[in-house]
Amino acid sequence: MAEASLSEQDIALLRADTPGIANRIHFNNAGAGLAPRPVLEAVKDHLDLEAETGGYEARDQANDAYSAFYANIAALIGARSHEIAYVENATRAWDMAFYAIDFRPGDRVITGRAEYVSNYVALLQMKEKAGIEIDLIEDDAHGQIDLSALKAAITPRTRLIALTHVPTFGGLINPAEDVGEIARQRGVLYLLDACQSVGQLPLNVSHIGCHMLSATGRKFLRGPRGTGFLYVSETVLDQLTPPFVDLESTRWIDAHTYALRQDAKRFENWERFVAGQIGLGLAASYAIGWGIGRLSKRICDLGAILRTELASQRGIDVHDKGLGKCGIVTFCVKGEAPEATLHRLQAHAINVSVSNASSARIDLPQRGLSALVRASVHAYNTDAEVEAFMHAVLDTAKPARGQSLSKRDDPGSIQNAV
Ligand SMILES: Cc1ncc(COP(=O)(O)O)c(C=O)c1O
Repeated sequence: MAEASLSEQDIALLRADTPGIANRIHFNNAGAGLAPRPVLEAVKDHLDLEAETGGYEARDQANDAYSAFYANIAALIGARSHEIAYVENATRAWDMAFYAIDFRPGDRVITGRAEYVSNYVALLQMKEKAGIEIDLIEDDAHGQIDLSALKAAITPRTRLIALTHVPTFGGLINPAEDVGEIARQRGVLYLLDACQSVGQLPLNVSHIGCHMLSATGRKFLRGPRGTGFLYVSETVLDQLTPPFVDLESTRWIDAHTYALRQDAKRFENWERFVAGQIGLGLAASYAIGWGIGRLSKRICDLGAILRTELASQRGIDVHDKGLGKCGIVTFCVKGEAPEATLHRLQAHAINVSVSNASSARIDLPQRGLSALVRASVHAYNTDAEVEAFMHAVLDTAKPARGQSLSKRDDPGSIQNAV
């Protein structure tokens, strides 16, 4: 059954909860989403409590909210609370899983062209240090990871499939579940980078079949900056030795002995942004409250509207790959550098970001691209904002009421903009 969408009234409520929408059009949710009021208040309240009563005492008083983080994140991705670790960002979450694998020379890791820059450089470092081999799988005709090529690349030396679900630089949604099925059939560890998909797509680790999943708090989940989490299936916990240990991840037994924790907290460290952990737990329950499926439908539908509008303009090239696409829309205005487009939009109080080839060495250069403008919508964005965005991109006057923007693809209009 198709997922119900959010009503106009729902969107109005979402906007009423989002102070950040007041003075800007925020199409940079893939950078950082705007936090909803309950999350903001929870973080501020905890910081106030720390200031009033002391940090350790505040942590004790906030124990319920602090602990709720694990249950809320578990509910968000269909995991169990003891399979969740709080980590300060998606990169470190991914690292804690990746560097926990006991790689041997000649071990192979499979990855794809969407892989995030920090993950890929970690693969290169492991190649240098431990002698692993990287198997880079080509895209299929749709621009997604090629499943037949992936299957064929698996050898007895394959230790890991590392896949980025949604890349930082495009609207592509990689077929994470199909990859999970292959990983399951072939008995290979599977680490999914869900940094750009958490909060914008429904995620269920049992359906996906990943053993580990890393994510950040600040993007589509709308949590505080400097927060993230790692999921590790209890079925593989024993195979993974955290690269760092401390008093949180272990029990110190005597002068010669320590024991690792028997849950995913073996990937945590003790000192942390407690207010952030509380805020992220709340962001997860806030999203669940709206229904991830409904939020996702709205985000993808609005992304599709924006993509169609941009693609209908002769002076604009849209660059998103993949069969199914999400709320991230990448494009270039012909004759204008992406940085210049960003600055022009900033002057209209519109936030976007730019994805550069320096963060996408195995994708953008291959497509002849050095940079892209990245516009990324959330459920609290509106059709009217998309329309205003289009006028700003084209730098044209607002059309008369009823005049459809997508029919105004006169190349002359874009000439004004470049
Ligand atoms: C696909 C992907 N993975 C990982 C990251 C890293 O996230 P963080 O900045 O939270 O470490 C990003 C950030 O943009 C990303 O887009």
